[in-house]
Amino acid sequence: MLERAPTKETTMATTILYPDYPTFTHSYRLVAMEDATEVGHVYVYIIGDPVKHGKWYALIDDLFVSEAGRGKGYGRTLMEAAGTLARKQKCYKIVANSHRKRKAARALYQSMGYVPHGREFRLDLK
Ligand SMILES: CC(C)(COP(=O)(O)OP(=O)(O)OC[C@H]1O[C@@H](n2cnc3c(N)ncnc32)[C@H](O)[C@@H]1OP(=O)(O)O)[C@@H](O)C(=O)NCCC(=O)NCCS
Repeated sequence: MLERAPTKETTMATTILYPDYPTFTHSYRLVAMEDATEVGHVYVYIIGDPVKHGKWYALIDDLFVSEAGRGKGYGRTLMEAAGTLARKQKCYKIVANSHRKRKAARALYQSMGYVPHGREFRLDLK
């Protein structure tokens, strides 16, 4: 039982369980090159979580390979590089969102061991 009912202030307060843990986020844009021309990219966000886990995780966003570059392994190479980066940054997990219509991306993720996890909800802020 709670000693006292939470006030508005206590429910709004953030308790930093890992105060020495850095909270900033690193962002990376990895690129795939073919004959000095960029054919693909992926954004990787390394996110520190000092409040809940005291761990880092990686969020992968906007994996893209140009139409001419597709089917040559660039997408897989970019995802492997993102995984290497996340491991180097001591992340404990990688999250990659993908709309269900993105069949190639979903096949790629699953072929690399990613498993469907939950369902994303989104609210567009105007
Ligand atoms: C998804 C995408 C990045 C894949 O890039 P790619 O360079 O063509 O992928 P790769 O050549 O490295 O293929 C890797 C794997 O992806 C899957 N894949 C690629 N193209 C596919 C297709 N047309 N249909 C089904 N699976 C496909 C396969 O599992 C493939 O492995 P395999 O070659 O051993 O069969 C590319 O299709 C793309 O940019 N699509 C548009 C943007 C997009 O959907 N981005 C993802 C946002 S979540």
